[in-house]
Amino acid sequence: MCGIVGYTGTRQAGPILIGGLEKLEYRGYDSAGISINDGNGIKIAKALGRLAMLEGITDGGRKLRGTAGLGHTRWATHGRPSDANSHPHLSQTGRIAVVHNGIIENYRVLKEMLINRGRVFVSETDTEVATQLIDFYYEGDLLRAVHRAMNDIEGAYALGIMCADDPDTLIAVRKQAPLIVAYGEGENYFASDVTAVLEHTKRVSYLSDGEIAVLTPGEVKFYDSFLQPVEKQVEIIDWDVSAAEKGGYEHFMIKEILEQPRALRDTVSPRIRDGKIVFEGIELDADYIRGIDWIYIVACGSSYHVGVVAKYNIERIVRKPVQVVLASEFRYSEPLVTGNTLAIMISQSGETADTIAALREAKRLGARTLAIVNVVGSTIAREADDVLYTWAGPEIAVATTKAYSTQLAVTYLLTLYFAECCGRITESELAAYLEELNRIPDKLEEICSKREHVQYLASLYFSADNIFFIGRNIDYALSLEGSLKLKEISYICSEAYAAGELKHGTISLIEDDTPVVAVMTSRRLMEKTASNAEEVKARGARVLAVTTESLRKEAERVADNVIAIPDSSDMFLPSLAIVPMQLFSYYVAVSRGCNIDKPRNLAKSVTVE
Ligand code: AGP
Repeated sequence: MCGIVGYTGTRQAGPILIGGLEKLEYRGYDSAGISINDGNGIKIAKALGRLAMLEGITDGGRKLRGTAGLGHTRWATHGRPSDANSHPHLSQTGRIAVVHNGIIENYRVLKEMLINRGRVFVSETDTEVATQLIDFYYEGDLLRAVHRAMNDIEGAYALGIMCADDPDTLIAVRKQAPLIVAYGEGENYFASDVTAVLEHTKRVSYLSDGEIAVLTPGEVKFYDSFLQPVEKQVEIIDWDVSAAEKGGYEHFMIKEILEQPRALRDTVSPRIRDGKIVFEGIELDADYIRGIDWIYIVACGSSYHVGVVAKYNIERIVRKPVQVVLASEFRYSEPLVTGNTLAIMISQSGETADTIAALREAKRLGARTLAIVNVVGSTIAREADDVLYTWAGPEIAVATTKAYSTQLAVTYLLTLYFAECCGRITESELAAYLEELNRIPDKLEEICSKREHVQYLASLYFSADNIFFIGRNIDYALSLEGSLKLKEISYICSEAYAAGELKHGTISLIEDDTPVVAVMTSRRLMEKTASNAEEVKARGARVLAVTTESLRKEAERVADNVIAIPDSSDMFLPSLAIVPMQLFSYYVAVSRGCNIDKPRNLAKSVTVE
């Protein structure tokens, strides 16, 4: 995934574009570049590596003069990270410059056609094909040239385009990749997401697939894929710049870990009124819910791990079958779907390509779709039949924490809502659950206040080459997320195993001093998991137990180190147990000198297959 930004107005574009790219760098950081029309044609500056390199060679964007331009920060898909493959890409004639987020799937065919017509390419990218194709069709009308190129291009893309002949005009095009337009006073912007423009304006419009925006300093015109004018709703972003800033913390990740109590309150409290769960704006009535014969939960990465936790809760309490499927698998697995199937898509960004494709497949097959999403107006939020937003606020660190936790909280509410509709819990049981759920944020505050203990334990484990996570049932679901958090930011090889599965092969990997994190919060399964911990200890492992205060003594008998969380209802323990594992991963990665907020090879939202 990449980040694109554009500005046209009366101010110097360079610093504004660089500032926008700083907010988008979490989307990809292999290289960056800007292009600005200085009145004597389009000038381009681009640099391999982090945005700081580009800032250095352009003096923060000030070296390129002009009041309209494009910016790009890259996560490489086609063509290794290099200066030549960095965006913006300029056409052979120098007339057209393009920035792109997404993938042009038929770029080879188009490239061959253009080469046969004398076009010379200088990069390995698919994006350069878009630049050359628009130039190929350009006969003085940029909008028409862009429209003709769009008809040839297949794939997912958000494009920003500028032409040397129209110095203050930008064109933005969206097809299956996020793109917003933002409105200033005598200036206008486009960007991959609102964080890039929030310091300038809170007034935005979200482009839909196939739509084209033509931006000049004084106005923005919108067209559909038939070049018919369309009117776009102007929305006001309801959070401010500080929410997307570090706020004095060393990293976004630790800030977002510590924001979890507030994020849970914001996500849960508005949905509990007079002892009842209230979901505004969704159409899942009690009769429909009672008639559901199958629930799919479809997601990727950490969002998938939320689904695994939800499966245990829904099946245990609602007694309806739940299948949790990786989105990249769902779309090719010919899933069994009836008219009574509910497909729940979970996604922080709402732009994950695999999850979008799975959503469309589920709808095509006739399932009803419900999205749990953090980014307002994102593709998944807009295309699902119903959407429940997590109100975690902008999550900048690539490794998700507060979004994961708020997704968990929404699945708790959904589980209890379904259970009440299906008569699986009484009013007093519901009241007790909701009372405990309202206590979770305070318990999270308590856990966060003891993070130095976790920091100390991280100092004992940070030099490990491998760390295993084991757990049973819902603790296994937690192990999946604990393991992913650790490996994606510390680069330590880590795997999560169902504790009972160890003896079926994996235990052969345990040797002296191998660290094993045993997640043992379930009283019902404590004895079983404790015996698994003893099995690995008997083979030399160092065991770190994550357990509850009431199970601490039992854990201390089998573990070398223990992290104990406050007790709670089994259903809600994942929200408490995950925080020590997030903190553990964070401190291990800090001790290893890793890039916490932008781990290598990753991007915040994977908008390509
Ligand atoms: C989580 O820490 C990872 N960054 C990644 O697994 C992420 O959860 C996954 O890519 C799904 O993203 P989404 O929630 O935005 O769809």
